[in-house]
Amino acid sequence: MTDIARTCIKISLLGDQAVGKTCICSTFFGLEFMENTLTSIGIEKNETKMKLENGKEIKVKIWDTAGQERFKSISLSTIKNSQGVLVVFDVTSTESFKHVTEWLKKIKDQKENIAIVLMGNKFDLPNRTVTKEEAEEFAKKNKLSYFESSAKLNKNIQEAFAKVVNEAYKLSSNAEGNELNNNAKKKKTEGGCFGSKKKKQK
Ligand code: GTP
Repeated sequence: MTDIARTCIKISLLGDQAVGKTCICSTFFGLEFMENTLTSIGIEKNETKMKLENGKEIKVKIWDTAGQERFKSISLSTIKNSQGVLVVFDVTSTESFKHVTEWLKKIKDQKENIAIVLMGNKFDLPNRTVTKEEAEEFAKKNKLSYFESSAKLNKNIQEAFAKVVNEAYKLSSNAEGNELNNNAKKKKTEGGCFGSKKKKQK
């Protein structure tokens, strides 16, 4: 069987407006936390390198999307080319938690084979309205990994990214490897995210 050495993973951040997606990205990239942010109006792309659980180093492209309703279709358009999604809600906003169901549906409508990790952000705030237990139960029901994060305190940010990137790598390497096996002429997909093919003994 032909195995494909994936060299790049794309991750989208989705979720309602003001849940903290941009701050999560900034913290992930080692930037200072911003108390006041401007609402996103498009897609902000950044990239870095990460070491996977298997020791391999991989390029990771992060797409920070806009949560505002009027930008939803642009934000959702990132799913097609992503291998993983971080769905973020704000633990002080029950509405943003309720909307997670919608975000999940929209993701699954577009792509079945995608890694999804749920993040309940802003756990540093005292006025939370979504309990850890209900978020964990929801995640369990939907077979998702769940992280309570704080971009402000830089808690569980690296962990959530590590989880989604590793899951995305495993899922996409298998699925897209099979797809490429079925189409030997197809040499490259998704903007050069694959390295060389190698033979794997079964
Ligand atoms: P859109 O771009 O509109 O979709 O918003 P967003 O999800 O990117 O939210 P953003 O990162 O801009 O953060 C919105 C507000 O929440 C800002 O005032 C941030 O300072 C604040 N915020 C983000 N993360 C945290 C956190 O972990 N803790 C606290 N206390 N505030 C946070």
